[in-house]
Amino acid sequence: MFAQSCDFIKGAVDLGGLPPPDLPEVAFWGRSNVGKSSLINALTNQKQLARASGEPGRTRELNFFDLAGVIRLVDLPGYGFAKAPKKVAEVWTRLTEAFLKGRPNLKRVFLLIDARHGLKAADKVMMDGLDEAAVVYQIVLTKSDKIKPGQVERMKTETLEALAKRPAAFPEIIATSSSKKTGLDDLRNVIAAFIPEFSA
Ligand code: GTP
Ligand code: MG
Repeated sequence: MFAQSCDFIKGAVDLGGLPPPDLPEVAFWGRSNVGKSSLINALTNQKQLARASGEPGRTRELNFFDLAGVIRLVDLPGYGFAKAPKKVAEVWTRLTEAFLKGRPNLKRVFLLIDARHGLKAADKVMMDGLDEAAVVYQIVLTKSDKIKPGQVERMKTETLEALAKRPAAFPEIIATSSSKKTGLDDLRNVIAAFIPEFSA
């Protein structure tokens, strides 16, 4: 399925601009610059599908990608981006939260966390919101190529422990590297399970 085409459908700047909720969706969220857009590109084997950049705050819309006509990947604007005017950043975050809490066809939120840094205060605030709204999220560690395998394992264990009392946290963590293309099949398998034809 991931070998098939993945196409950009649209970027939404408000809830009125969302595509109809007629396909399952999974969303990629996390701090600005954590690697959301890069991960979507790596998963779909397309270099420039989602616009990735070293400049934090690159993604400023809710971007929808159609994967093989059976599921959508949603690239969300990151949070915790200090450089954006505060009001602007607040608008993105509010829109993103409204989307995450009100989307009936949303199957899972992948909450991306930098494997070097682990959970930060801003992540915990977002997790509190998802726990309260009962929106299931799964932690995906990114940039695991930047540290040693043993350190990645330690971060996985430590993060899993921190999730223990969070009701909406899926109790499995996937470590990935978009540049070294590791952990991608684990994540693809999770995504594929949300497609009726594949999980049947
Ligand atoms: P915003 O759209 O600003 O919220 O950022 P984002 O989360 O979409 O991050 P993006 O994918 O644009 O990546 C940010 C930076 O991290 C870029 O310079 C990427 O090249 C780099 N990066 C992303 N994934 C990896 C990875 O797995 N390994 C390494 N070494 N660098 C990565
Ligand atoms: Mg991005």
